[in-house]
Amino acid sequence: RGDVLSTAASPPEVADQFEATVVWMDDEAMLPGRPYLLKIGTRTVGASITEPKYKVNVNTLEHLAAKRLELNEIGVCNLSLDAAIAFDAYAENRDLGGFILIDRISNRTVAAGMLHFALRRSQNIHWQALDIDRAARAAQMGHGGKVVWLTGLSGAGKSTIANLVEKKLYAEGRHTYLLDGDNVRHGLNKDLGFTDEDRVENIRRVAEVAKLMADAGLIVLVSFISPFRAERRMARELMPEGDFIEVHIDTSLAEAERRDVKGLYAKARSGQLKNFTGIDSPYEAPENPEIRIDTQAMTPAQAAEAITTWLEAHP
Ligand code: ADX
Repeated sequence: RGDVLSTAASPPEVADQFEATVVWMDDEAMLPGRPYLLKIGTRTVGASITEPKYKVNVNTLEHLAAKRLELNEIGVCNLSLDAAIAFDAYAENRDLGGFILIDRISNRTVAAGMLHFALRRSQNIHWQALDIDRAARAAQMGHGGKVVWLTGLSGAGKSTIANLVEKKLYAEGRHTYLLDGDNVRHGLNKDLGFTDEDRVENIRRVAEVAKLMADAGLIVLVSFISPFRAERRMARELMPEGDFIEVHIDTSLAEAERRDVKGLYAKARSGQLKNFTGIDSPYEAPENPEIRIDTQAMTPAQAAEAITTWLEAHP
């Protein structure tokens, strides 16, 4: 299913990156970097919108700058797929050039689109096979890489607990690294703020970095609010089954706000800080985390112990 038979004389092109026109049809805005499913003919592949180039004012046909597309907006975007597909430009063949985008969590059709052309880079970049692989690195390290992903509200205790977990693992001779939201936002992600699209990009980048570090054999602790299910799922899918451990550092909003260690909740309540998680920006709690830590029933030391015990039981 999804394969295409063609005449030898005029085969369709094959590519995994495109420019396309996208008509957004969902109440939830399109966010660049978020993983969607793209259905073209009978083929379905993972896809993300890498870059909206502009949106079109439908009354004047004027091109406007855009970072996202809202309901009923039409834009021209670059798309990147998880696998190459056979296609024709929509202008030449509606069946092999028209597609829909589907939300991976709600299964709703969120957009319809038309492929324009393949990006040249998609034909010119190839995966390089290397000899020292994951297994070789794991053998040298004495353990395989893993990603232990801590998610939760600001002030829930993620960084404190991650720090304790890392100290324990380090003391046992494991090779670790801690990626902390506040710290990574000082360097790699210093160009990002707290809009939905910037958070998606924040998580996409840190997930890719965590994957590389785990590939190198490290036990990577990731401590980011990471408020959206879709991006946590994307991070999970970058890792082999069993090597991604989601830990919900579960604290009620009332309790996080009561602690308010950094004074940010007070600022958010008084309107000085916009898009604050839990106040005017959503937090989507994990539905099935490997580990759930109730910080109101445990001290940080007990929480760290619970996490390292779980890791020992699941080597
Ligand atoms: S995430 O949502 O994109 O995953 P991340 O973990 O990187 O967030 O950064 C959260 C940290 O940034 C918080 O611990 C807090 O100190 C700070 N911060 C500043 N502004 C905000 C905001 N609007 N919402 C949440 N955290 C914020």
